[in-house]
Amino acid sequence: MSNDRTPLIQLQGIRKIFYTEELETHALSDIDLQIRRGEYVSIAGPSGGGKTTLLSILGLLDAPSEGEYLLDGESVATLSASERARVRNRQIGFVFQAFNLIRPHGLRKRGAALDLSRHVGR
Ligand SMILES: Nc1ncnc2c1ncn2[C@@H]1O[C@H](COP(=O)(O)OP(=O)(O)OP(=O)(O)O)[C@@H](O)[C@H]1O
Ligand SMILES: [Mg+2]
Repeated sequence: MSNDRTPLIQLQGIRKIFYTEELETHALSDIDLQIRRGEYVSIAGPSGGGKTTLLSILGLLDAPSEGEYLLDGESVATLSASERARVRNRQIGFVFQAFNLIRPHGLRKRGAALDLSRHVGR
């Protein structure tokens, strides 16, 4: 059960390994992290250091290879993709650097919503 003292986000021993035909990439190794309600956290590091991989796992867009992830006290590390989508829908908000909402070129081509396309996606 969660209460106000339960960390909102708790990672323990998170690992993420990407496998391709030639390469095995250890993007995250043994990550422990706690974020409490109301905390403002930024993640910094070199290119290729695993920031996007970590955010994808925190946001339930991807699953860790190993480790435990408790979101508001509930284990979410091993949920299926559709279960992750349900939790994401209810508990997580993303603001993407690219908004990923509307493709302005497609809109221009069709001649629709011209004015809107000037304000979105740049
Ligand atoms: N889908 C994937 N398949 C294979 N390797 C991947 C995949 N995603 C990330 N990687 C590898 O995992 C490592 C971490 O990548 P990640 O994108 O998380 O780094 P980053 O810190 O976000 O980098 P940047 O600052 O350039 O955005 C890199 O070596 C990257 O090549
Ligand atoms: Mg990145």
